[in-house]
Amino acid sequence: MEKTAKKVYIETLGCQMNKSDTERILGILSHFGYEKGEENEADFFIVNTCSIRKLSEDKAYSKLGVWGKMKKNKPHIKIAIAGCVAQQEKEILLKKFPYLDLVFGTHNIYELPELIKELETPAPDGSRKRICAIRDKAVAEKEFNIIRSKGINAWLPIMEGCNNFCTYCIVPYTRGRERSREVETVLNEAKKIISEGYKEITLLGQNVDSYGKDLEGKPTFAYLLSELDKLEGNFRIRFTTSYPTDITDDVIETVKNADKICECFHIPMQSGNDRVLKAMNRRYNRVQYSEIVNKIRTQIKDVTITSDFIAGFPSESEEEFNDTLSAIEELRLDYSNTAAYSPRPNTPAGKMTDKFIPSDIKKRRLAILNNAVKAASKKSNELSVGKTYEVLVEKVKEQDSKNGLKRIAEGRSRNNKVVHFESQTAKDGDFINVKIKEALVWCLKGDEIK
Ligand code: SAH
Ligand code: SF4
Ligand code: F3S
Repeated sequence: MEKTAKKVYIETLGCQMNKSDTERILGILSHFGYEKGEENEADFFIVNTCSIRKLSEDKAYSKLGVWGKMKKNKPHIKIAIAGCVAQQEKEILLKKFPYLDLVFGTHNIYELPELIKELETPAPDGSRKRICAIRDKAVAEKEFNIIRSKGINAWLPIMEGCNNFCTYCIVPYTRGRERSREVETVLNEAKKIISEGYKEITLLGQNVDSYGKDLEGKPTFAYLLSELDKLEGNFRIRFTTSYPTDITDDVIETVKNADKICECFHIPMQSGNDRVLKAMNRRYNRVQYSEIVNKIRTQIKDVTITSDFIAGFPSESEEEFNDTLSAIEELRLDYSNTAAYSPRPNTPAGKMTDKFIPSDIKKRRLAILNNAVKAASKKSNELSVGKTYEVLVEKVKEQDSKNGLKRIAEGRSRNNKVVHFESQTAKDGDFINVKIKEALVWCLKGDEIK
């Protein structure tokens, strides 16, 4: 009888970097007889976790709880926790969750082959093996398959880690110091992605502008972008995240002149108030941030600028919070992610307990902030009406209408606006010119130009 493959089920929480790590973990496991499976049939369960806020951490624990119960009826299953919570909490997790078999972190996914072997080798006394494998330093990357999620976009990490230590943020502790991948490695991976038919590559890094600072010869992010832009093929390049004051003129110039690099910058501002920015250890003030936004807008036509904001940072006053609202409007930020401040272990802001903002006030500020983002997004979208955008189709669905079924295609413009349009022929991965006729809050509607 043919040996059936073992099944692994991975639940991925958190940012795109985690999604990318999951694709790598699945790839590594595929070399060791594991195939991606559904939750009800898996032998190996992994939760790839995020600890940016308490809520995301709690999600990971509740997932472990579900699998722990499952294990009572299926004692053979193995349960692992990976990612940022694992990197942060380490062996405590084995104590907290008795049914957990393996803890590995963001620094050692390339050690998985050894870890699995160890886990699958019975202990001499027959007891169940439980392993905590967290590393302080990242282990080197190795050549393995990558099992990418299907679709038109592929994640391509170019650097990992952060040296900035914003006072609220756990990322420098969970992802370690900044490390870049070699230019050759990135280019080769990009070529492979294109040959597999993906139409969009999103370059990932906690601070993409720090790319190359740790490599020999110090290749810059602008250089990497220009090399990627030269690759053959019909595809788009995006990148995230940029630290405001690290964006160089070279990067702006490169995006402006490039053929494949899309006109979007994700530049988290975090707060519109100078005192709060200082308390957050962000290395810029409101004026400096707006100068960067203006510089980009003057140089690059139709560019989209998106941001992140935190509501209720410890000690933030009502007036200071209002500065965030006015910044969103004044700077015409196209879209922003928002969150209520969440205290994180070992971070400086997490220790400012006497300055914490009560949660009902944080919630109220977050709701007001979300309304400001919504209004800004609508305004920004309205500026698109009448323009023609090249849309890369991501999905097509059929919709009931008075005149029978309509085919509605959904995709993104180069400047990352979601566009819906009716089409008889559009399919995933097509580039289609669409004239925008209507602006909604989160998307645009238009007509296909034939
Ligand atoms: N490297 C990126 C993003 C890091 S995390 C950057 O420099 O901005 C993504 C977003 O999560 C941050 O931009 C911030 O807005 C939010 N965030 C980080 N820590 C947080 C915390 N403790 N509470 C609430 N939001 C937080
Ligand atoms: Fe966190 Fe700040 Fe680093 Fe971004 S720059 S990952 S917010 S410490
Ligand atoms: Fe979360 Fe880690 Fe990403 S904390 S946001 S998964 S880097």
